[in-house]
Amino acid sequence: MTIKDRFYAVYAAYPHRIPHVEGVREWAVKLATLNGVDAEGLDAAAYYHDLTKYEPKAYHVALFRDHGHPEWEHLPEFMMHGYSASLIALNDGLSAALVQAIRHHTTGQEAMTPEEKILMLADKIEPTRPYAEAKTLRDEAVTHLDVAFTSMLAYLYTYDQTHGRLNAYNLKTYRYYIPERMAE
Ligand SMILES: [Fe+2]
Repeated sequence: MTIKDRFYAVYAAYPHRIPHVEGVREWAVKLATLNGVDAEGLDAAAYYHDLTKYEPKAYHVALFRDHGHPEWEHLPEFMMHGYSASLIALNDGLSAALVQAIRHHTTGQEAMTPEEKILMLADKIEPTRPYAEAKTLRDEAVTHLDVAFTSMLAYLYTYDQTHGRLNAYNLKTYRYYIPERMAE
């Protein structure tokens, strides 16, 4: 079974979320192609990135234990799906860069690879995202990937700050990429 088939089998129960994932795939492939990054790999990574998003916490924790990462059970719950999906991608033989991109797509991390930046950015700016800035970020992304990436982080930082979602993981990303914004 291809990852596309597996994705559609899982998402038969969540059809309203299919346009989001297809939007991520479209934008991840577009940005990968524009930047000379593994477009075929990002096509697959998009189908993996939210594959386990609707699984209960016990599912993620069991997978973490089975794969020698019991410490991941202490992750904030909203981040667990990226980590569990990354283990499935690892098992399926995806490249280390794609596995990392899937793992860190929710909050990012320090010193991200182009694959990580592209998947995270595509996830936040794909066309079904309802916020007004997404359109501006898409326009910016096709000309300047890194500029769009830091603009997106500045937007997310404000969102996380006002919604009580700052944590040790996303703060590390923000401190690394937008220190001037953090100092405001
Ligand atoms: Fe997503």
